Amino acid sequence: MFTQEELLNCINGAIDTIAYPQSPFGLYEPIKYTLHGGGKRIRPVLTLAACTALGGNLDTSLNQALGIEMFHNFTLLHDDVMDNADVRRGRPTVHKKWNESTAILSGDTMLTMATQLVCKCSDLKLCHVIKLFNQTAIEVYEGQQYDMDFESRNDVAIEEYIEMIRLKTSVLLGCACKMGALMAGANDEICQSFYNYGVKLGLAFQLQDDYLDTYGDPKVFGKNIGGDILNDKKTWLLISALKEDETGELAKFIGNKNVEPQEKIHSVRAIYDKLNLAQRCHDLIDQYAQLAIAELENVDIPDESKDFFVNLALKSCRREN
Ligand code: IPE
Ligand code: IPE
Ligand code: MG
Ligand code: MG
Ligand code: MG
Repeated sequence: MFTQEELLNCINGAIDTIAYPQSPFGLYEPIKYTLHGGGKRIRPVLTLAACTALGGNLDTSLNQALGIEMFHNFTLLHDDVMDNADVRRGRPTVHKKWNESTAILSGDTMLTMATQLVCKCSDLKLCHVIKLFNQTAIEVYEGQQYDMDFESRNDVAIEEYIEMIRLKTSVLLGCACKMGALMAGANDEICQSFYNYGVKLGLAFQLQDDYLDTYGDPKVFGKNIGGDILNDKKTWLLISALKEDETGELAKFIGNKNVEPQEKIHSVRAIYDKLNLAQRCHDLIDQYAQLAIAELENVDIPDESKDFFVNLALKSCRREN
């Protein structure tokens, strides 16, 4: 089994070889800026890890891994417009550095380039690959719509939140895992186990992202802190606080555009603290990581491969960026 670092080097090396047309510069430069500007690469790592754990080699699913990373980066360009986010990976977002039209059009191009990469496989596999990829993409868009719809609703249930993050984030991690398994030629049952692992890992991953948006160190996280609070995003933290805050204090801040941003972030976080939500959020994250780990318990892969997926799940629960 390869180490995470070896898989990461393989992906970064391959990303460096992607060739872009010279012009129009204004279309391709933001794509390079985004794709070559860092990122944890967890999705393509999952693809290569699943594929190699099941007997494939690094090249077997490399194009699909790159395509999924390209797709993920496309979603970020549009997401940052939708979330009005100015900073990502410690740098200005594309719509800030250029403009919104650029974020839309370079994003569209990345989506098409992602599809081209994912489709680089044998005719025999193509039908399965494109079905998985397209289904996942549609679900991500559905999740993003729910995420926006929930901004103006104050009665979002925890179950609705979990379904929203399953769609906007988790299915792509599930797809990344299943794609690696598919490319290795695994049977349906194994593909499904890897998909389920990725989805449950994805729930833990997005819960941790939401935690970091309130409690992270902006220098390490690479994004501004408090964006979710300012946008009234219905995170697990906010939904729980809305349910439990008996002082009526929290309700005054939600949907209120007249409060100074730093004061809103500070006050809402203080309410979370009173309810001990950070600790309780991590308890939930740990539960999803354990559910992810359980999905691979009975899958016939070498012990060292299993350890890889266990460690990745545990590390994702306490990641700081
Ligand atoms: C950010 O994804 C969007 C979420 C689904 C939380 P990542 O946290 O994987 O972002 P990068 O690619 O590492 O920057
Ligand atoms: C992002 O969720 C999910 C997708 C990009 C599809 P967030 O909006 O929480 O991601 P960040 O925090 O901006 O990376
Ligand atoms: Mg968002
Ligand atoms: Mg966002
Ligand atoms: Mg976030």
